[in-house]
Amino acid sequence: KGETEMQMLLKGGNIFDGERFHNGDILISDGVIVSISPNISISDFNGRIIDCGRFFIVPSFADIHVHLREPGFSHKGTVKSETAAAAAGGYTHVCAMPNLNPAPDSKENLEKELEIIKRDALIEVLPYGTLTKGSRGETLSDMEEMSPYVFGYSDDGKGVQSEEMIIKAMKKAKELRKPISAHCEVDALLTGGSIHDGEWARKRGLKGISSESEWKMIERDLKHALEIGCRYNVCHISTKESVALIREAKKKGKNITSETAPHYLCFSEDDLREEGRFKMNPPLRSKEDKEALIEGFIDGTIDYLATDHAPHSDEEKSKGFESPFGVVGLETAFATVYTALVRSGKMKLETLIERMAVSPKKFLRRSYKIEEGAIADLAIIDLEREWEINGKNFLSAASATPFEKTKVFGSIEYTIYNGRIVWERKLTQN
Ligand code: DOR
Repeated sequence: KGETEMQMLLKGGNIFDGERFHNGDILISDGVIVSISPNISISDFNGRIIDCGRFFIVPSFADIHVHLREPGFSHKGTVKSETAAAAAGGYTHVCAMPNLNPAPDSKENLEKELEIIKRDALIEVLPYGTLTKGSRGETLSDMEEMSPYVFGYSDDGKGVQSEEMIIKAMKKAKELRKPISAHCEVDALLTGGSIHDGEWARKRGLKGISSESEWKMIERDLKHALEIGCRYNVCHISTKESVALIREAKKKGKNITSETAPHYLCFSEDDLREEGRFKMNPPLRSKEDKEALIEGFIDGTIDYLATDHAPHSDEEKSKGFESPFGVVGLETAFATVYTALVRSGKMKLETLIERMAVSPKKFLRRSYKIEEGAIADLAIIDLEREWEINGKNFLSAASATPFEKTKVFGSIEYTIYNGRIVWERKLTQN
């Protein structure tokens, strides 16, 4: 591309400076923010000018927990389709979970995933390696040889049942200075349920997934993570007990963090319908759980908004509660949480940007400030635009979302990665 095309001027706009918003122009050249000032002259500017007068400019988002499905499950989604979905949601960085085929549990297997990422990813993808071979929980994966190429380790989709195994993994992770992102679930406490073991399930005589199956393993792991001192992140927390345990653990160690997903902050079991788009693991819990998660999300017990974006084909998700677990979330994360928590007055916009961009980017050691000299990774948002969520319009290959037909405020107008536009809403139909 010619030099002028590599230049871009964002005219006007409310710029997030890390703590608050102020008005100004942003000049981007060769992927870098070269100037931020109240009024940059456009008279001899040759590059692209974007009128941001109504928009808010924030650091682009990072999601530490997504499923991109390649290699192995491209009928559900691909690195190409799901990173395009991420870009449309304002994301420039995602961490890919390793429940793939082959599972990245050795350098050789990981290479297959890395090749696809290199070829097809529209934004930066940081893969997780598995914790154990094939995520079967029996022996450790080749954590060390994968270490230069992975962000961290996870057996997401399954809990590591053996206490001895998780201790071993924590020690290894600590030695390698890499985080563990743990899916916490005690198999012995499961009875084959698809939804929360609560009121809703009981009334209908359905089997449920107990809260205990989540928090029991969190309780076990936190004790060891604090002792060993490895960097330990709890995946997709969904219960009030999990919030309380993590709140206490964080008082004892800076190495503990946690994430939750938009659906746990916006829905409870009361919103359930017997449709595949309401089936995810962990499940939507009680109202009290939802309230505790909101409180934890606001006070920082929960560090990251992570979507657990989990595409499955429409055909797979058409089977009600017989469908596989998982819903998509990248294209609706900002708008749904902004509408439910910020617009409603419960939480400040700055805090949401912290949970979606600043904190996860610090975790990934990526640039998270909008300042001169920084890499231009930005999301440009229209907070006043109201739209209706329609899974059919997603760039994701999948469409199952509990937010279908929900009206929300806040649309991602542009996503800029390394100074290049990777998403531009006006070019699409929705
Ligand atoms: O709902 C879920 N879907 N939870 C998981 O833990 C795995 C994920 C998937 O891979 O579909």
